[in-house]
Amino acid sequence: MKKKVVLAYSGGLDTSCAIRWLQDQYDVDVICFSAFIGEVKDRKKLEKKALVSGAKKAYILDLKEEFAREYILPSLWAHARYEGQYPLATALGRPLIAKHLARVAKLEKADYVAHGCTGKGNDQVRIEVGVRTWAPNIKIIAPLREWNFKSREEEIDYAKKHKIPVDATKASPYSIDMNIWGIAIEAGILENPWTEPPQDAYVMTRSLDKVPDQPRYIVIDFVDGVPVKLNGVKKNLVDMIESLNEIGGTYGVGRFDMIENRLVGIKSREVYEAPAAEILLRAHTELEGMVMDREFLHYKRLLSEKYAQLTYFGYWFTPLKESLDAFFQSNQKRVTGKIRMKLEKGHAVCVGRESKYSLYSEKLATYSAADAFDHKSAQGFLKMWGLPYEGLKDKE
Ligand code: ARG
Repeated sequence: MKKKVVLAYSGGLDTSCAIRWLQDQYDVDVICFSAFIGEVKDRKKLEKKALVSGAKKAYILDLKEEFAREYILPSLWAHARYEGQYPLATALGRPLIAKHLARVAKLEKADYVAHGCTGKGNDQVRIEVGVRTWAPNIKIIAPLREWNFKSREEEIDYAKKHKIPVDATKASPYSIDMNIWGIAIEAGILENPWTEPPQDAYVMTRSLDKVPDQPRYIVIDFVDGVPVKLNGVKKNLVDMIESLNEIGGTYGVGRFDMIENRLVGIKSREVYEAPAAEILLRAHTELEGMVMDREFLHYKRLLSEKYAQLTYFGYWFTPLKESLDAFFQSNQKRVTGKIRMKLEKGHAVCVGRESKYSLYSEKLATYSAADAFDHKSAQGFLKMWGLPYEGLKDKE
């Protein structure tokens, strides 16, 4: 009997060629596994493509719900953004793929797993560390680190020679990875950091000259930290995210253009779109800011930074990440209320908030006659607050 490999399959040129290449180089049967989390629209088509390309079997699993609940939601609670911007769509998708890749490999009693990540990206790290956490004994093959194609053209020739279907119409000049939390667009002319991304690079958002003139207001209801209603209409998390991608995209919300520090040491120019992530991260942050105290909020920011790094670096299934999840979850009961956002020309701004757990007191904050703040006691308080520094500079 031939040995077996389970390949994380996307339907793109690389993983399609990898099916044939694995058969030839390793003399194995190839089983494809795809996580359906928002990139591919047509599951049947993807399955057919895998089989036509030479796979013995294909698992195309709908994992959107699991992705939303177990990956996106915790990172929303963590306010995770790598280097202050990138909401981590790809970095969150990879551990989910790794976990199921390991599971399917065990189910199939496979000898290997394989993936289509290159040798200079972060994705290989997330997939391999994830797979090894769940299935330490399985061997991992990374065809893209081994094969000798010098260019995309060579790869296309190989595909044609072996009758592997190539979708020429979809041949984008960019490298793209997408799920419901956002899209990453890299390579091509974007590699020049001075060049503005051309309009055709964007997939989820309209450019500012095409967005509506009038702003649009939306209201998001949160219960226990979970966004549950959009404009008064109940939505499950996946629907909520997909609807906000649609609406936010129409207003050009959630574009990023940044130079980012990869784990492998290089800096890369990244273009991201993440309309729903941008809106939800802002909305959740605003609501939490209203119901939680200063010490908690300030300390949380440090942990958010760490959480984003762990996620980005492929340390998703780790004790520290899980402990941080418990920390972020601990106060979500209070994150219940409504946030009103204004979408306007590329921006999503919170313009209203309301919660029964609100710590905001208009009586204390007001500069009007209704003021209830005890101004006199400020004097004594300030005496103590400044005491350690009294005369400090006077002595120099
Ligand atoms: N730089 C981003 C990250 O590391 C995006 C990676 C995109 N992946 C891809 N295969 N195009 O998370």
